[in-house]
Amino acid sequence: MQEGKFYRGRRLRKSEGTRQLARETTLSVKDLIHPIFVTEGKNVRSPVTSMEGIFRYSPDQLERELTDVHRMGIRTVLFFGVVDEGKKNSKASASWVESGPVQEAVRNTKKWAPEITVITDVCLCGYTDHGHCGYLVNGQIDNDASLEALAKMALSHAKAGADVVAPSDMMDGRVAAIRQALDENGFSELPILSYSAKYASAFYGPFREAAASSPKSGDRKGYQMDPSNVREAMREINADIKEGADLVMIKPALAYLDVIRAARERFDVPIVAYNVSGEYAMVKAASARGWVDEKAIVREILTSMKRAGADKIITYHSKIIAE
Ligand code: PBG
Repeated sequence: MQEGKFYRGRRLRKSEGTRQLARETTLSVKDLIHPIFVTEGKNVRSPVTSMEGIFRYSPDQLERELTDVHRMGIRTVLFFGVVDEGKKNSKASASWVESGPVQEAVRNTKKWAPEITVITDVCLCGYTDHGHCGYLVNGQIDNDASLEALAKMALSHAKAGADVVAPSDMMDGRVAAIRQALDENGFSELPILSYSAKYASAFYGPFREAAASSPKSGDRKGYQMDPSNVREAMREINADIKEGADLVMIKPALAYLDVIRAARERFDVPIVAYNVSGEYAMVKAASARGWVDEKAIVREILTSMKRAGADKIITYHSKIIAE
């Protein structure tokens, strides 16, 4: 494209009004998904030290949080479960019990704030005694043995009333396994949001503190993606869509905007970006020192994700943007 000699880009930058005329990307509270950690017990509201402003709630304490987010215009939440160490075992059997914190939180949300769309995270790492996202057999992840557990967990969330289930474990074939379990049990209309391109990232550190879900040995590089790869992300997304994923996710987001862009150009399913815990903690730490303007920087970061091609963004910053 050749700009003629009369082109002056600044004409449209002159005022908020003209900038608005030229604006290509907008950020709306409707684009945001608010993550919530739910834990066992009653009367619990415990702060996550590495994520200022984020708490773990017992299911009975959610009413206020749900009313707050709803009042601010946020329409979707994503639940993560946190269970006591004593409940964890090699089978992750606490992940699919009806009385689990996520299952109870979902039922409570449907009671207290039925207008809110509830997504649940499906992964074994918070429920296995070794902290890996799948079953461990002789020190190795047993991909296929993990699928049944993931399907049971997803089904228990569906039975509790979840609107969408979101597998984040990165086992191969889990979307198909979950889709089949849902279909066979009367949930053929329930969508799956797959964490399709989930990288083995250092940006999950604060989350693992929040969810007490760090692997006790080794790392997740055998199942989460290598941060160096973008073409592989296209293969993962393609495979998940073929297995029945209705929405796909790229995670983390800020250091992976090129992956979001590539996916946007290639696929026409809704794309969700996950602005993860480490991205949140960095912004919080710098703004606490007065080094950056928190609101402005959050707006800019989230806008960059939309500009890259994300339709929705999961972010711990949702309240500050909504306000
Ligand atoms: C569980 C899971 C993780 C996150 C979401 N689901 C952590 C991990 O894979 O270790 C990270 C979210 C965040 O950092 O905000 N597998």
